[in-house]
Amino acid sequence: MDILIDDVRHAYDRLIVLNSLSLDIPSGEIVCILGPSGCGKSTLLRLIAGLEVPDSGRILTRGNPSPRTLHPIAIVFQDFALVPWRSVAKNVELPLEHHALSAQERQRRIWSALQQVKLTEFAHAYPNRLSGGMRQRTGLARALVVDPAILLLDEPFSAIDVGTRELLQRDFLRLWEDARFTGVCVTHDVLEATQIAHRIVILSRRPARVRTIFEVAVPFIDRREDHPTLVALQQAIREIIREEIEAGGRELEGAS
Ligand SMILES: Nc1ncnc2c1ncn2[C@@H]1O[C@H](COP(=O)(O)OP(=O)(O)OP(=O)(O)O)[C@@H](O)[C@H]1O
Ligand SMILES: [Mg+2]
Repeated sequence: MDILIDDVRHAYDRLIVLNSLSLDIPSGEIVCILGPSGCGKSTLLRLIAGLEVPDSGRILTRGNPSPRTLHPIAIVFQDFALVPWRSVAKNVELPLEHHALSAQERQRRIWSALQQVKLTEFAHAYPNRLSGGMRQRTGLARALVVDPAILLLDEPFSAIDVGTRELLQRDFLRLWEDARFTGVCVTHDVLEATQIAHRIVILSRRPARVRTIFEVAVPFIDRREDHPTLVALQQAIREIIREEIEAGGRELEGAS
């Protein structure tokens, strides 16, 4: 499904977080969202997920999800938000509890989601027995279990060591190749963005709007870390984010 974000403004009391933010996310693409800390990235994800409603402007989704889709939009939270007293399988089952499914279909979905993230062996483990990477996979399985058309991820690979992160990123791309969901991934990791995104959106300092959009015109199979196009793109992205952070700093100094 496409996501159309049209002139969105959102504030918390007097703090204007997003202003004049417009962005179209094409169906079946992975878009990474970057921007200075605190600029409103998580807020934007919550708005797309429908967990909050924008003060003005519109967020529309367009297109037909597959018949298997139970919820069009699923979100993986930054801290994975697992329920500690439920096993991995029971955490993954949570979004199914609102749906009238046969016991067989419920089990099939849970098992398929666990297989997709390679966690079947740990189905009966509790979150406190899992590594960071396994918790991340559980959060991802819980989102995948509804076969979402749109998958939102808030810094999903940030709390994980570099080696595991690269594996998870590769697994994530394999999942996308199977399911072809529209993915929106907030990240601070410029290298990660150039590995997993079709398109990279950089938000400005707060109040955030879209500052720049880059297309990553390198096929996934060719995305070596030292690919010259990707290295140049990473430099350009870092430069823009640095500019936004510095301009934000100057505004703060001017105001004090
Ligand atoms: N529920 C809320 N109530 C009040 N203020 C909020 C709320 N959620 C976010 N904010 C404020 O809105 C601004 C944007 O927050 P948000 O979490 O969207 O930023 P972010 O870009 O995701 O930051 P980070 O990169 O650090 O995760 C921050 O100043 C934050 O303090
Ligand atoms: Mg955030």
